[in-house]
Amino acid sequence: MNLSSKLPHIGTTIFTVMSKLATDCGAMNLSQGFPNFDASPRLMELVSYYLRHGFNQYAPMAGVPALREAIAQKTSDLYGVSYHPDTEVTVVSGATEALYAAITAVVHPGDEVLLFEPCYDSYAPAVELNGGVPVYVTLSPLSARGYRIDWAVAKSKISAKTKLIILNTPHNPTGVTLTRADLDALAELVRGTDIVLIGDEVYEHIIFDGRAHHSLLTHTELRERSFVCGSFGKTFHVTGWKIGYCLAPAALTTEFRKIHQWLTFSTITPIQYALADFLKEPQNYLDVPNFYQQKRDTFLSYLQHSRFSYTPAEGSFFQTASYKTITDEPDYDLAIRLTHEIGVASIPVSVFYHQRDDHRILRFCFAKDDDTLRRAAERLCAL
Ligand SMILES: Cc1ncc(COP(=O)(O)O)c(C=O)c1O
Repeated sequence: MNLSSKLPHIGTTIFTVMSKLATDCGAMNLSQGFPNFDASPRLMELVSYYLRHGFNQYAPMAGVPALREAIAQKTSDLYGVSYHPDTEVTVVSGATEALYAAITAVVHPGDEVLLFEPCYDSYAPAVELNGGVPVYVTLSPLSARGYRIDWAVAKSKISAKTKLIILNTPHNPTGVTLTRADLDALAELVRGTDIVLIGDEVYEHIIFDGRAHHSLLTHTELRERSFVCGSFGKTFHVTGWKIGYCLAPAALTTEFRKIHQWLTFSTITPIQYALADFLKEPQNYLDVPNFYQQKRDTFLSYLQHSRFSYTPAEGSFFQTASYKTITDEPDYDLAIRLTHEIGVASIPVSVFYHQRDDHRILRFCFAKDDDTLRRAAERLCAL
């Protein structure tokens, strides 16, 4: 059979490659973004309760009302904005689904989509599967503003065909966060256009040093044209549950749900009920920034004795570090070698660039227990 691939240039994701290699080598896996510790026992009890009490059939397409209400309540409490649970909040099977559904709802063949690279690797394939054209604004650690967005460059990439801009804050892989000034610059960029925005905000609760999370939905002008995607997997240490949500004004949500209903239709029922209860206790998400800040600080307290150089992550559970003073090897080769030789798996940051720009930087996930962080960092310090 001669099957013509829709994504001929796409192979297995680096996350799968590195996680498998880590397992094969018995290495500590600081590559893929998932915790090596469990979620709250209370959350487990709640899921178990709903599993055992008959909440096991299809949930409503948009999500169980109690969870949509709890998400709307959290959003209002944290950001002072109101999203209607019936028409503006949708529960999805992970943020990846939300991103795919939002991109599919918006992008027609030939439309251009502005992506800031390095970027999460699901964006471009989703754009391309819809016939869209990714247009890249390349952020480099070497530029004057570091990985921060130069809005003049972004403006130079806008054309009559630009349909969508995707933003990610806190950012994977760089750990950088958007500021209020960034949101204002973005508003200026899209004012008077029909450009739609997606805010990939899966790390909204993983933000450090007292920073506020500047969500697209906190900006009145941006909110009306934005899909904002969240992930309970990231927030509550349960990435394997693949459950998240999308907030968007009613007109956008209507189109979003048309796609969502044919992608997955609905999301796992007992976990939705459990999360609805769990969200009623705000401390469950208010404690998350401190929890991860301790992880970041623990990891960096060891890494400061190494020859890596880095700027502490502002958010997300990733720390990038330059190894330029250690070796000149390509980042991909080094990530593989370190997995084999010192038993520490990481992600080469070049994979987040469409042309594989290699600035000799590795990304380490610090969502690990303290002992793993210490042992991994000790080995990195020996380099
Ligand atoms: C920036 C970013 N967006 C989206 C996702 C996917 O989230 P989920 O597991 O909820 O699909 C990830 C997961 O690594 C991510 O890092």
